[in-house]
Formats: sequence, C-alpha cells, structure tokens
Amino acid sequence: VARVVTTVEEVTDATDDVVAALARLVPQLTTTAPPVSTEIVRDVTTSPATTLLVARDGAEIVGTLTLVIFAIASGRRAWIEDVIVDERARGRGVGEALVAAAVARARAAGVRTVDLTSRSTREGANRLYLRLGFAVRETNLYRLTLDG
Ligand SMILES: CC(C)(COP(=O)(O)OP(=O)(O)OC[C@H]1O[C@@H](n2cnc3c(N)ncnc32)[C@H](O)[C@@H]1OP(=O)(O)O)[C@@H](O)C(=O)NCCC(=O)NCCS
Repeated sequence: VARVVTTVEEVTDATDDVVAALARLVPQLTTTAPPVSTEIVRDVTTSPATTLLVARDGAEIVGTLTLVIFAIASGRRAWIEDVIVDERARGRGVGEALVAAAVARARAAGVRTVDLTSRSTREGANRLYLRLGFAVRETNLYRLTLDG
C-alpha cells in the first residue's frame, strides 16, 4: 500500500487549481448547488467568517471543508460545512484530518461549540463525526429557503 501523506491547509486565494478542485468535489456532495466559479470561491475566501480548508495528497487537492466562525452574545460558535473527500481518496483518513484541523482552529479561536448537520443516510459521514466526538443534538433544525 502506497504511503499517503495528507496535508490540510487554508486556502486564501481563488486560484484556478482550487476552483477546479471544488468544481470536481462539490457535485460529490450535492447536485443542486450552482456550478462552482471563481466568483463563488472568492466569496468564500474573502468572507472574514469563513475558513476554506483543502486536503492535499502531494500537490493534488483530494478533499475540502469549510469552517464558519461567528460571534454572538452567548459566545463564539462555529459550523462545519461542505465536508467532501474525493471518491478516489476515501477511507484513508482524509475526512478525519479535515475535521480535526477545523476543530483545532475553532478551539484556538475560543469557540464554545462546533455544529454540523448530516443526513442519516450519509452513513460514512455520521460515523466520522461520532468517532471524532460530535454528539447528536435533540433539537429541531429549521430552514427557510430563499433561492427556490
Ligand atoms: C464522509 C466523507 C467526507 C468521509 O471522508 P473519508 O476521507 O473517507 O473519511 P475517513 O477516511 O477519515 O474515514 C472513513 C473510513 O475510513 C477508515 N480509515 C481512515 N483511515 C484509514 C486507514 N489509514 N486505513 C484504513 N481505513 C481507514 C475510517 O476508520 C472510516 O471507517 P468507517 O467508514 O468504517 O467509519 C466522504 O465519504 C465523502 O466525501 N462523502 C460524500 C460527501 C459527504 O457525504 N460529505 C459529508 C456531508 S455531511
């Protein structure tokens, strides 16, 4: 088995390689999102609340995650969104490395709680989050859709 070194780093510029990687990865999470463009990636990288992380296998981007940190009167909170590992790179710890890196950044930023959602049909994702210490919250999650 080839030895794989996964590095996780923050992306601060919407370079062509990052845009191309996200254009390949996002459809592996959702088929309803608008096509990834440079403008969309720039929106993510320039937002002060948002940290775009990528996992690399050598130079190649094989996974991504977005960490959102925000401050409210009850304390700093965070959400993890868009966790995606390329089909060809799954099952060797890339997802775990991405989530662990996001949690470490949230902790360093003084965040009280890190939330995320995952449909119960995403069995691999749910196992990953439970393994890393996330617990299911008993709450109702509401959404108002504005783009439909
Ligand atoms: C969910 C997802 C991000 C997980 O990524 P991943 O890189 O495969 O995750 P990991 O490799 O850390 O963990 C997956 C499995 O590999 C195992 N694993 C990790 N490192 C390993 C290694 N070196 N050797 C063997 N197995 C390993 C883990 O124990 C885990 O086992 P499990 O499936 O029995 O729980 C990925 O499957 C994905 O992108 N899915 C589609 C999109 C999606 O559902 N995203 C989540 C939205 S909430």
